[in-house]
Amino acid sequence: MHKVTSEIHAEDHRTSEKLYGGNAVTKFVFKYPSYMIDSSESAAGKLSCDSDDDLDVDRDREGVLMIEHSVSTELDLVGLQVWRGALLLADYILSHSELFRNQTILELGSGVGLTSIVASHLAKEVICTDINVGGIIDLIRRNFLTNLACIKSAYRIDEVNFLNLTWSRRLEERLQSASVILAADVIYDDKITDGFVRTLSKLLYTKKEKTVYIALEKRYVFTVTDLDTTAPMYEDFLRCIEKYRMNWSVDYVNIDFPRYFKYDRVKHLVLMRIQNNARSIAYA
Ligand SMILES: C[S@@+](CC[C@H](N)C(=O)[O-])C[C@H]1O[C@@H](n2cnc3c(N)ncnc32)[C@H](O)[C@@H]1O
Repeated sequence: MHKVTSEIHAEDHRTSEKLYGGNAVTKFVFKYPSYMIDSSESAAGKLSCDSDDDLDVDRDREGVLMIEHSVSTELDLVGLQVWRGALLLADYILSHSELFRNQTILELGSGVGLTSIVASHLAKEVICTDINVGGIIDLIRRNFLTNLACIKSAYRIDEVNFLNLTWSRRLEERLQSASVILAADVIYDDKITDGFVRTLSKLLYTKKEKTVYIALEKRYVFTVTDLDTTAPMYEDFLRCIEKYRMNWSVDYVNIDFPRYFKYDRVKHLVLMRIQNNARSIAYA
C-alpha cells in the first residue's frame, strides 16, 4: 500500500521522540502571544518591573505542545499525522484571539487535535471531531490530556463522519451549539470533499450565526487533460461549494498574520472564511 508523509516532517524545526508501534511524540514550539504571557505571569504572581518601571516580560517566551502522531500512514489514516493547515489555523487563532475567545468552537476532521488544543486556550467550549479510524479518537484524547496546561475551556471529543450525516439528536444539538467551525486540510479526496461540504451545509442551515474557517493547501499537479498544472481537489471543492451553498458568503483571509508556530508557510496555503446569512434562513 502507498504511504504518505505529511510535509511538515520534511522541515527540521522540531524534535521528536519515537514511541514503540511507529508513533512519535513531537514538540511543537510556539511563541507566546502577549495575552498568554500576561495571564500566566499574573496568575502566578510573577509580574515584575524593570529599572524604568516597565513590565519586565520576555516577549519571546515560548510554549510547547507535545503531540503524539504517526510519521507516515496510508491515505485513509492521514489524520494520524499533523498537516500545515493545522498550524496555519492555529496561528490565525492565536493572532485573532478576539474572534475565538469565549466561543463554542467545533473542529471537523481535526486529526490529532493540535488546532483544537490551541483553540481551547481561548474558547468557552471546544468540540473536537474526526472520523474514528486507526484509533484517532483515542489519540486525540491522549493529546488533550498531555497538554492540559494549555487548555482553559471545556472540551468534548466526538466522532463526526462526513459520509454519515445521521446524527443523534444529542450530537446534533451539541454540534449546532457552535458559533465557530474550524477545518484544516480536509480537501484531498473528491468523496470526502463532497461529504465535508454537505456537512457544512447541514451545520450552516440554522438561525444561529456561524463562521467557518477552512485552511487548505492547494496541491498542484500536471494533468494531461489540461496540459497544465492545476489544483484539482481545490477546484472540486469550489464546485462543491457552489452546489451546496445556501446563502453563504465566502471570502479569503490574507495569510500575512503573525507566525507563532514554526513551519514553512508556503504560498499555496489558503484560509477561507464562510459565513451563513442566518437572517435569511430565519425568515425563509
Ligand atoms: C490531511 S488530514 C488533516 C488533519 C488535521 N486537520 C491537520 O490539518 O493536521 C485530513 C483529515 O480529514 C479526516 N477525514 C477523512 N475522512 C473523513 C470523514 N469521512 N469524515 C470526517 N473526517 C474525515 C481525516 O481523518 C483527517 O483527520
